[in-house]
Amino acid sequence: MNSTKTWLVTGANGFLGMNAGVFLSGKVQTISATRAPHRSPIFDTHVQFDIQDLSSVRSTFSSLNPDVVLNTAALASHQHCEENPELAHEVNAIGAKNVAIAAREIGAQLLHISTDAVFDGKSGNYREADATSPFSVYGQTKLAGEQAVLAALPSALVVRTNFFGWSPSGTRSILEFFVNSLTQGKRVDGYSNYFVSSIYAQDLLQALFELSDFQHSGLLHVASSDSISKYDFGVAVARQWGLDSQLIQAARALHHDGTDSHTRDLSLNTDKTMELLGRKLPTQLEGITRAKMDLPDLRPKVLNTENVSDWEKRD
Ligand SMILES: NC(=O)c1ccc[n+]([C@@H]2O[C@H](COP(=O)([O-])OP(=O)(O)OC[C@H]3O[C@@H](n4cnc5c(N)ncnc54)[C@H](OP(=O)(O)O)[C@@H]3O)[C@@H](O)[C@H]2O)c1
Repeated sequence: MNSTKTWLVTGANGFLGMNAGVFLSGKVQTISATRAPHRSPIFDTHVQFDIQDLSSVRSTFSSLNPDVVLNTAALASHQHCEENPELAHEVNAIGAKNVAIAAREIGAQLLHISTDAVFDGKSGNYREADATSPFSVYGQTKLAGEQAVLAALPSALVVRTNFFGWSPSGTRSILEFFVNSLTQGKRVDGYSNYFVSSIYAQDLLQALFELSDFQHSGLLHVASSDSISKYDFGVAVARQWGLDSQLIQAARALHHDGTDSHTRDLSLNTDKTMELLGRKLPTQLEGITRAKMDLPDLRPKVLNTENVSDWEKRD
């Protein structure tokens, strides 16, 4: 049923966007939408526009008429957003709204990606209806984006998530942080007071693909079915890769001012999603296992050293 559809993926040069290209390849017709000129051959067609420019988004959508728009474009770095709050708002809130307006005008289904960072991490296991309280500019602007998208297009599906996997720069995700560091024998900190329910990117895309058939609208949490600390995540990666877990030192995440931070638990409750899907979502260990299996085939398709964003080059 899905194979005749066309999916347009914004942010297609990014971590999730490039993973979407690999996942969707052969399943549907794909259009990559990027801000920069580079295009990945993994997509069938390519367009270039900035989501801040409503008229470009509109004219592109109306000429290509995609059935589904997967909006992954965002200013997704906490630090970049803290340093550029106005730009963060322009991209994460206004840009998201522009995509929703243009999708509404052509009757496309919109899957908009949001984040667990709309919560403050004081309690964890957050449900869709729980009160939001973002602790960062990134979280605030992503929350504003969720609200703008649903106001412009109530039939949109807004997915809050957190994910790991193989990224275009090879350095974007926590999985790559631990694999790269431990392979080089580097000692690293693993936060024992920071919990997330991060899902493997390809598992997230599988869930989004299934959900697209249900035409479900509103907020949905799509994440792993368990919550573990970043320290335990690192130890799980070390075990899976046969690397030395002793190189990971249990550490406490600190506030920006260097003071000790209380436990932050940003885990998302996924009961609603699992009920819709009629199946369990994977645990983080299951995701790590799959990421290792996918490595030889998927990583070369996703990796693109020419495509490292200016922001990532600075890290
Ligand atoms: N990574 C995570 O763990 C995580 C966790 C929770 C939620 N999310 C959300 O997941 C989505 C994807 O994140 P990601 O990690 O894939 O981010 P990413 O790697 O930084 O990719 C984001 C993409 O958006 C593009 N973009 C930025 N501003 C744009 C604009 N004005 N117009 C068009 N494109 C623009 C970027 O283009 P350039 O390449 O030209 O800069 C980049 O390719 C985001 O909505 C993010 O908030 C991510």
